[in-house]
Amino acid sequence: MISIRDISKSYGSLKVLHGISLDINRGEVLSIVGPSGAGKTTLLQIVGTLERPDSGSVVFDSEDVVRMKESRLAAFRCRSIGFVFQFHQLLPEFTMQENVAIPAMIAGMSHYKAMERAGELIKYLGLYDRRTHKPSALSGGECQRAAVARALVNSPAVVLADEPSGSLDSRNRDELHRLFFQLRRDMGQTFVIVTHDEHLASTCDRIVHMSDGRIQNIEQRINTTTV
Ligand SMILES: Nc1ncnc2c1ncn2[C@@H]1O[C@H](COP(=O)(O)OP(=O)(O)O)[C@@H](O)[C@H]1O
Ligand SMILES: [Mg+2]
Repeated sequence: MISIRDISKSYGSLKVLHGISLDINRGEVLSIVGPSGAGKTTLLQIVGTLERPDSGSVVFDSEDVVRMKESRLAAFRCRSIGFVFQFHQLLPEFTMQENVAIPAMIAGMSHYKAMERAGELIKYLGLYDRRTHKPSALSGGECQRAAVARALVNSPAVVLADEPSGSLDSRNRDELHRLFFQLRRDMGQTFVIVTHDEHLASTCDRIVHMSDGRIQNIEQRINTTTV
């Protein structure tokens, strides 16, 4: 579904990625692990079209997003890619439901429809009675699950998560990790997750080990987490 070919990226004289190639399959939960500075975030930002590589291609089905014009790219990104970051980045002045609905409205959905879609996702995530609260009145775990709902609101091809459980306690972390696999089972959702969490990585279909801007190896797991 996503084909990454020979991606290189430098910041000034610092070469951060050295010819990364990787195929991401539909419905796959893939983790990327490696030491700090390995280039994991840079790779995720390039796959997410937030950064452009110096060379190489990133093809979603048949569309090469590296060569796509910025004007088309913004719409493509909004429709096709969901992001979850370490800190939820919900907007403080909006309710949970509004926060989840915002990307749908940006994609052109009416306010009514977007709020309805957001409400369905929030219900699915077990947060319905919290939907009218603003982020300051929600726990860290609730905010992060709402951030997942926001990432899903436009039914993206892929959700890219950068250390999504990095700021959660162990109970909320486990709950968030279960949610990823539940979403894959119920919706066939594809995930690429950068993580330091060894347990999460070990439950993914494949683990991509990165260091010094290179993929060192790709570990195929026997998938036991579809239930
Ligand atoms: N915008 C940037 N400008 C300059 N250097 C950057 C930028 N983003 C990342 N880097 C550098 O690139 C390297 C890889 O960073 P990053 O992709 O964030 O690694 P990781 O997520 O694996 O910790 C680091 O040395 C980092 O300092
Ligand atoms: Mg990082």
